[in-house]
Amino acid sequence: MVKAEPKKKKAYQLVKGMKDILPEDQRYWDYIKHVVSTMADIYGFKRIETPVLEFVDLFNKGIGQATDVVEKEMYNFVDQGEDHLALRPEVTAGVVRAYIEHGMLNLTQPVKLFYISPCFRREKPQGGRYRQFYQFGFEVLGEADAVVDAQIISITYKLYRSLNLPISVQINSVGCPDCRPAYLTQLKEYFKRYKGKLSEASVARLAKNPLRILDSKEKEDLPLIVDAPQQVDFLCENCKNHFIQVLEYLEELEIPYVLNPSIVRGLDYYSRTTFEIWVGEEEGGRQSALGGGGRYDGLVAMLGGQETPAVGFAGGVERLVSQIRDRDFKVPEATKPKVFLAQLGGEAKKKTLSIFEKLNEAGIKVYENFGKGGLKAQLEQADKLGVHFTLIIGQKEIIDKTIMIRDMENGNQEVVDISKIIPEIKKRLERSVVNEEQV
Ligand code: HAM
Repeated sequence: MVKAEPKKKKAYQLVKGMKDILPEDQRYWDYIKHVVSTMADIYGFKRIETPVLEFVDLFNKGIGQATDVVEKEMYNFVDQGEDHLALRPEVTAGVVRAYIEHGMLNLTQPVKLFYISPCFRREKPQGGRYRQFYQFGFEVLGEADAVVDAQIISITYKLYRSLNLPISVQINSVGCPDCRPAYLTQLKEYFKRYKGKLSEASVARLAKNPLRILDSKEKEDLPLIVDAPQQVDFLCENCKNHFIQVLEYLEELEIPYVLNPSIVRGLDYYSRTTFEIWVGEEEGGRQSALGGGGRYDGLVAMLGGQETPAVGFAGGVERLVSQIRDRDFKVPEATKPKVFLAQLGGEAKKKTLSIFEKLNEAGIKVYENFGKGGLKAQLEQADKLGVHFTLIIGQKEIIDKTIMIRDMENGNQEVVDISKIIPEIKKRLERSVVNEEQV
């Protein structure tokens, strides 16, 4: 009789568009978090974390129902309590909700907040585009002055430049509710003339939200977009002055920028300044923009708060990690252990547990592999880790109350009284650091 093959269990796989952040990448993540919080501290931003889940209406209203993010990409569902919820596709709307809900209007204005938070968009997964991704962001609520727009751009510019990235600041103004209607009428007229040449998606946008045609990445739309009327030519006096001031402040800060009328952003809440950070200056940089932001003076009121001007920026962490890793940017590595603690036999294992704690408390970074019994395997591991010394406790050392110190460089071994191990190992480590520095 032929024996049936045992059924192979299917190994689980990542959900499409998700990404594991493996140990070898963590140092880049840690470094980015460090750079973001250092910048935040310098410029007086306080950290905020809002929940991943919000009521779906917050995004429908805040980001706009006719945007790709809300219409096509948002994960939303009705929970067991019949609440209509969504996984946040971005953080700004949640921050504004928190600003209103916690009465931050009563604090000294402006309120400056920053975050590093996961977001979710059901986009087509491709290079630099995930369905769960992290954003770091800076938001300033309660200040209309153009100087704050320039400051937000300056923070992000400095942040990316400190990571040696050849970025460009692409900037535009999308006007305000006073001057945008006249522009939208012109834009609609223009695209209507070319309706036959527009992509299907853009024909649908024409009726709902013609501004979104300017974000289109469809091939047939691109030549039409280049010649489309531009918002900057329709700005009202106030918006024009505001924009000129932003540019003047950037010049004062010596921040180079590229005026780019196509930076209208994919979310509906923007007014006046909009900007994106691209790698390089070419149009291709847009597909993988490192970040984007702008002014959103109407959002607080739209979400139920008082009229409050605001401006902010968010950058994608995955895209930033991939840039600095591919360009071989040297991020500081976590300090390596300098000592390995090896044990032989049951009694010795017990003793090393407390020795490990004592070494740790004395500030000495130690590695161990308590599960392994053989000395050879432990020494091999110590060698691989590149430690300076291995401490060995076996049966004999337990009886004699001693511990053996093995110098991994020359293989010399010395037995010392176990009660003196901390000062002894500290002395040797200091010596080996001095030797290292002299090399
Ligand atoms: P956003 O341009 O939609 O703006 O996203 C900001 C950044 O998040 C993008 O430039 C990109 O680096 C990253 N990102 C977006 N989607 C993905 C994805 N699917 N995979 C990987 N990275 C992604 C906003 O979200 C606004 N809330 C920014 C803002 C803050 N405006 C004012 N304040």
